[in-house]
Amino acid sequence: MALFKSCKIISSVGSHSPALGMLHIRASSWWSEVQMGPPDPILGVTEAFKRDTNPKKMNLGVGAYRDDQGKPYVLSCVRKAEALITAKKLDKEYLPIVGLAEFSKACAQLALGPNNEVLKSGRNITVQSISGTGSLRVGANFLSRFHTASRDVYLPKPSWGNHTPIFRDAGLQLKAYTYYDPKTCGFDFKGALDDISKIPEKSIIVLHACAHNPTGVDPKPEQWKEIAELVKKRNLLVFFDMAYQGFASGDIDRDAWAVRYFIEQGHNILLSQSFAKNMGLYGERVGGFTIVCKDAEEAKRVESQLKILIRPIYSNPPMNGARIASTILNTPELYKEWLEEVKGMAHRIIKMREQLVANLKKEGSTLNWHHVTDQIGMFCFTGLKPEQVERLTKEFSVYMTKDGRISMAGVTSGNVAYLAHGIHTVTK
Ligand SMILES: Cc1ncc(COP(=O)(O)O)c(C=O)c1O
Repeated sequence: MALFKSCKIISSVGSHSPALGMLHIRASSWWSEVQMGPPDPILGVTEAFKRDTNPKKMNLGVGAYRDDQGKPYVLSCVRKAEALITAKKLDKEYLPIVGLAEFSKACAQLALGPNNEVLKSGRNITVQSISGTGSLRVGANFLSRFHTASRDVYLPKPSWGNHTPIFRDAGLQLKAYTYYDPKTCGFDFKGALDDISKIPEKSIIVLHACAHNPTGVDPKPEQWKEIAELVKKRNLLVFFDMAYQGFASGDIDRDAWAVRYFIEQGHNILLSQSFAKNMGLYGERVGGFTIVCKDAEEAKRVESQLKILIRPIYSNPPMNGARIASTILNTPELYKEWLEEVKGMAHRIIKMREQLVANLKKEGSTLNWHHVTDQIGMFCFTGLKPEQVERLTKEFSVYMTKDGRISMAGVTSGNVAYLAHGIHTVTK
């Protein structure tokens, strides 16, 4: 209505005074009702870090790997794969809706293990996705359209911050189950079992396959076994998010253990994979989305619907990252080199955890920091309270999210002692 009114004004004055007419065009708005949204909590941390002039400043907010000099790291196998791809002078035609076939096949093999019965019987559909986020969103949209038995998605408490909007924006209802125990900074196994046992049948449950984000706390294999049994008893639909395969322990098979165990136990899971962290392909946006079906015929039907779903969203995925990942996964020497490099990244992080605890002890801290080394993967839930986080930022220029999560990837041999000094100062 407001726009209609201003148009009338423009038509009456515009012919005599073009400048005044322009003014009215600019003054009218379609979006006057749009409220300013809050900034992204993690990107907000990076912005504040950039403004800080302290030479000792540390950004432990963002979850991207850094080498021991604190620099972004491009894997050597990635550089070699890129050179091979460039030399082939390949065309830039569209990929199919489901992506690069040789990539998807290798991606599913990596997650499930090459001899998995699911792959042999062809009862999975695996599509190339726009990294882990895109995979989760395609999965969420699929569930929203076809899982008519329930709209409820149960996330661990806490979960990766983006899980909530991904499932919510797809029209699903968010619920939560107990996961983290702030008293021990560890897994609340009993709390998780209690909550899961009450989840209504046919609901969707999201499980982090390894290196839980943000807590770094994973169930042990024996605990996974009990969870798998309970989830089966409750007849829940499992959606595994595996954003860190290899990055947690340094061993791709060990990190995929829970996913493979659930499948072995008869769970027909949904699975999201990302190559952002384990191949360092953050900006290439390459991942995979898999649905394990009852049989090959069901997989075909599901594939047809995934195509119908993806086509109007992004038509087909980008090719560059998929070519890189596929070249690494399908070239034996590069694959071998990649396994070593993943191990190198994971072990550097594990070493930094040990050094952080050793330095805290050196500082004289008598607090229990076991959780720092017990937790796994890129993130450490330090247990720092919001006011301690605030002091660490103000007094030491150490930036992290308010929940006390630090990205271990930002810790180096050069700054670990400084970090320990800061943490000890605000916790003693
Ligand atoms: C648990 C979890 N899932 C999914 C993702 C997706 O990341 P990307 O879209 O970069 O692959 C992340 C990234 O931080 C994550 O931590």
